Amino acid sequence: MPTLNNLAAPQNLTVAATGASGAIFLRQLLALVDRDPRVKTVNFIASDNALRVFAEELGIRGRSNLVSQVLGSSSRKIQQQSNADIGANVASGSYAAEAMLVIPCSVGTLARIANGMAMHLIERAADVCLKEKRPLVLCVRETPLNKIHIRNMYRAADAGATIYPLIPTFYNRPTNLDAMARQFACRVLAHIGLPQSDAYRWKS
Ligand SMILES: Cc1cc2nc3c(=O)[nH]c(=O)nc-3n(C[C@H](O)[C@H](O)[C@H](O)COP(=O)(O)O)c2cc1C
Repeated sequence: MPTLNNLAAPQNLTVAATGASGAIFLRQLLALVDRDPRVKTVNFIASDNALRVFAEELGIRGRSNLVSQVLGSSSRKIQQQSNADIGANVASGSYAAEAMLVIPCSVGTLARIANGMAMHLIERAADVCLKEKRPLVLCVRETPLNKIHIRNMYRAADAGATIYPLIPTFYNRPTNLDAMARQFACRVLAHIGLPQSDAYRWKS
């Protein structure tokens, strides 16, 4: 299937989750990349505050077997990295990460990325994507937005990130929350060169 924006399909992805609402979008995205044969490696990082939201929204407790808990099954492909480990693979531009998705992206993490504050692995990996000119997609979720949020979205976009707000589509008539989140995840993946064959496509 041709990609929507002529990007080669990335084989090595970084996926980060932060403490914004929307854990079901992450769950659907991880399930899609886990089954996608074009994707060989996924480094997954969750902030401490993501875990707090996972507890509320997914009923997940603690950090152990986090990938299995989020996915509902184990994965050989998705490797969890510690957000405290600023020496992990994705912290270096010499590592072959090809694209990074932050889903969901809190306005706190947005602020740190937009202002180059690479204190944790998530922000460092994002900073590396920007400096190496690799795709970085920030699925920001907050409402309403204050001027600081809007300025930080502008700053991040100006530095090369894609601001991809966690706003689902309704014209595909999703019949449940998982279907809604799945279509959103398909759109995000298509944006980085991984179109999904079962995604809804507008035909008019
Ligand atoms: C249940 C819950 C929902 C939250 N939803 C959001 C949200 O949608 N957007 C946001 O920016 N922050 C949200 N927060 C607040 C963030 O978790 C908080 O600002 C945190 O410091 C973000 O840290 P992180 O960016 O390091 O993950 C939420 C917190 C909780 C507990």
